[in-house]
Amino acid sequence: MGARVLLVGMGAREHAVAWKLTQSPDVEEVFVAPGNAGTAQIATNVPIDPKDIDSLIEAANDLKIDFYLATMDDPQPLGLVDRLRERGLPCYGPTAAAAQIEASKAWSKQFMVDHGITTAIHRTFRDHNDAVAYVESLPDAPIVVKASGLAAGKGALVCDDREGALLALDTIMIKRAFGTAGDQVVIEERLQGWETSTHAICDGETAVLTPSATDYKRALTGDRGLNTGGMGAYSPSIDVTTALSKAIEQEVVKPTIEGMAALGSPFNGTLYPGLMITDRGNYVLEYNARLGDPEAQVLMARLNSDLFTICRAAAEGGLSSVDISWSKEPAVGVVIASGGYPREYTTGHLIDGLDKIDEDVQVFHAGTALTPKGVVTNGGRVLTVVARGPTLAAARAKAYENAQFIRFEGAYMRSDIAEIEEIR
Ligand SMILES: Nc1ncnc2c1ncn2[C@@H]1O[C@H](COP(=O)(O)OP(=O)(O)O)[C@@H](O)[C@H]1O
Ligand SMILES: [Mg+2]
Repeated sequence: MGARVLLVGMGAREHAVAWKLTQSPDVEEVFVAPGNAGTAQIATNVPIDPKDIDSLIEAANDLKIDFYLATMDDPQPLGLVDRLRERGLPCYGPTAAAAQIEASKAWSKQFMVDHGITTAIHRTFRDHNDAVAYVESLPDAPIVVKASGLAAGKGALVCDDREGALLALDTIMIKRAFGTAGDQVVIEERLQGWETSTHAICDGETAVLTPSATDYKRALTGDRGLNTGGMGAYSPSIDVTTALSKAIEQEVVKPTIEGMAALGSPFNGTLYPGLMITDRGNYVLEYNARLGDPEAQVLMARLNSDLFTICRAAAEGGLSSVDISWSKEPAVGVVIASGGYPREYTTGHLIDGLDKIDEDVQVFHAGTALTPKGVVTNGGRVLTVVARGPTLAAARAKAYENAQFIRFEGAYMRSDIAEIEEIR
């Protein structure tokens, strides 16, 4: 009998992971809480809020779940892995203590300082007056103010000057724009460079880097518009050389895994640091403790090995004994969003063209819902169309060709995902 695997989340990332898991001969059924119209087609959706840990535990019990694979940020700091493991359930994902590396920027900055991991100079504050006094003591220069807790990727305010930083402190600590995520703030120097990230599959002791992937955060073509959850991605990244990847592995991933183990909180799960590459070195901006979205969609499209075998081995501390192989073919993922996202948008629009997609192209759902009239939009990011090809250009062309088939009122996609103009 195969395993019954639980995922928590409702994005295209969860759909991509579920899709990969269903290809495993060792998986009997995948359950996604709460899932979307895409996961409903290949797995069983379970209508539970990702932060409702009690109900997730109950469902794991009722549904006879054998394995939990963490993909989204919310449940782990709330102790989902700890509580499932207490019940003897193997999990790929960090305990609440280990998940602090993402859930508390104040904690992770101190961790980096303690373990010699290069990061921007910073101070942490709980008191607004103290934070204001500190900013006023600094030269009037660019500065970054971050809510320490989980803020759905919106809690880092990059400021041009002292006035902007004071406004940011007011937004986070007085207006409480990010709720309790703003109980603590991190104030740090603003770095100059270019951004990249790394994903590593970790079993507490061993870390294996995935291929590189680049995401596109801005809403509009040409890197204009507001920051979003991600409008597309491709893998491998043109600007991540083997040397850079090795450097990140040695300077960041390895000392992080060793440091967490030394603290008695070995890191199990996907470690996904965000970095700024500068003339002075490779700086860690933050850690995430799960897969990126939309990076997951292109990485899953390139994974040749059995995802369940990898995650089960990692859950048991046996990652070093599994082979992980990736397709040589690049993959490109284009997100189709609701017009207006990340600001206001409408939902409930019928999605056409899902039946026209090439067989070897994947459409991973995010904000979709199944209604009697068909699949309708139900969120900001609606779908990710993912294609592979012998070259990046071929993968890109195939992704866009297929994305054109998908129609709904107000549909919007960037036209420049994986359009490589310059090689750094
Ligand atoms: N020290 C810094 N210097 C310059 N830019 C920064 C710095 N820290 C964060 N940023 C910018 O803000 C973005 C979000 O910050 P990050 O720490 O990744 O928090 P989160 O993803 O949780 O919002 C980064 O991707 C980067 O563009
Ligand atoms: Mg980030």
